[in-house]
Amino acid sequence: MKIGFIGAGKVGTTLAKAFVEAGLNVVGFYSRSPKSAQFSAQFTSSESFQTINKLVTAADLILLTVSDDALPAVIETLRPLPLADKTICHTSGVYSIDDLFADRAQLGALGVGLHPLYPFHDKTTVWQSIKEATFTIEGDTEAATALQNTLASLGFTVKPIATTQKVAYHAAASIACNFTCTLMAQSLSLMARSGFSEREALDALRPLLEANLKNILVVGPESALTGTIDRNDIGTVTKHLNALETDTDRRHYAVTSLRLVDIARQRHPDENYQTLIHLLEQYA
Ligand SMILES: NC(=O)c1ccc[n+]([C@@H]2O[C@H](COP(=O)([O-])OP(=O)(O)OC[C@H]3O[C@@H](n4cnc5c(N)ncnc54)[C@H](OP(=O)(O)O)[C@@H]3O)[C@@H](O)[C@H]2O)c1
Repeated sequence: MKIGFIGAGKVGTTLAKAFVEAGLNVVGFYSRSPKSAQFSAQFTSSESFQTINKLVTAADLILLTVSDDALPAVIETLRPLPLADKTICHTSGVYSIDDLFADRAQLGALGVGLHPLYPFHDKTTVWQSIKEATFTIEGDTEAATALQNTLASLGFTVKPIATTQKVAYHAAASIACNFTCTLMAQSLSLMARSGFSEREALDALRPLLEANLKNILVVGPESALTGTIDRNDIGTVTKHLNALETDTDRRHYAVTSLRLVDIARQRHPDENYQTLIHLLEQYA
C-alpha cells in the first residue's frame, strides 16, 4: 500500500510520521504551499510533490488531510484524474465520504472516512502518542476493512461506524471535548467572584476535576455522579440559581441540571425528583 497525503498540516504530518514509524509506505505530500509539503516530506523521509496529479499517480491510498472547508474543492480537483483502483480517504469528523464524494464508484475509486478521535495541536509531537487514539472508519466496506485490518495489525485502534451516524458521532466528540471548556469558564467566573485568580482557581479545582474525570473514565457518568442534583437537594439548587447573575447562566445551569436529573433517576429509581424538575423547568 503506497500512501500519499494531500494537505501537509497537523493531521497529515502526524499520521504520515506515525505510519512511517509503524512500517507503512508513505510516498509523500502535496500541499497548497510547497513549503508545507517540503517540511512534512522531510520530517517523514518521504517526497514532496509539485502537483496533485503526480501524487495521485504515485499513491494508491490518498489521504485528504486538508481543512474541512477545502475538502470539496480538492475532491473536484481529483475528479478528472485517473482514480481507478485508488482509495480516497478523508479525516474529517463531521463529513462522511458519501457527503463528500458520492459518485466515486463511477470513477472506479473507493472511499473511506478515517477520523482520529484525538486533538492535534502541532505537526511534530503528536505522532508519539497517537496510538492512544481510537480511529473511527466508515465508507466502502472493501477499502474500510482493508485499512482497518492494516492499522489494527500495527497496533492502532480502529472502530467502524455507520456513515449515517457520522454527524451524531462528531457531536459526541465535540460535547466531550469542547463543552468541558464552557463549564470550566462558567465555574471560573464564579470562582473569580469568590476572590480566586484564574490560576488559583484552576489549581484549587484540579483535584476535584481530576478525581471526577478519573471516576467517569473508570465507572461511567452514572456511577461517578455525586452532588446536589443526585441528592435531590432543592434548597441548594434554589440558592445556586439565585446566586447566578444572568438569565443565560441560570438557563445553562437549569438545562444541564435537568440532564443530571435523568442520570440521578437511574441511580435512585425510588426517589421523587418532580419538585426539582418543576423548579429547573422554570429556568430552562
Ligand atoms: N486538528 C485536529 O485536532 C483534528 C482531529 C481530527 C480530525 N481532524 C481533521 O483533519 C483534517 C485536517 O485538519 P488539521 O488540523 O490537520 O488542519 P491544518 O493543520 O490546518 O492542515 C490543513 C492543511 O491543508 C492544507 N490545505 C488547505 N487547503 C488546501 C488545498 N486546497 N490543497 C492542498 N492543501 C490544502 C494546508 O496547507 P498549507 O500549509 O500548504 O497552506 C494545511 O497545511 C480536517 O478535516 C480536520 O477536521 C483534525
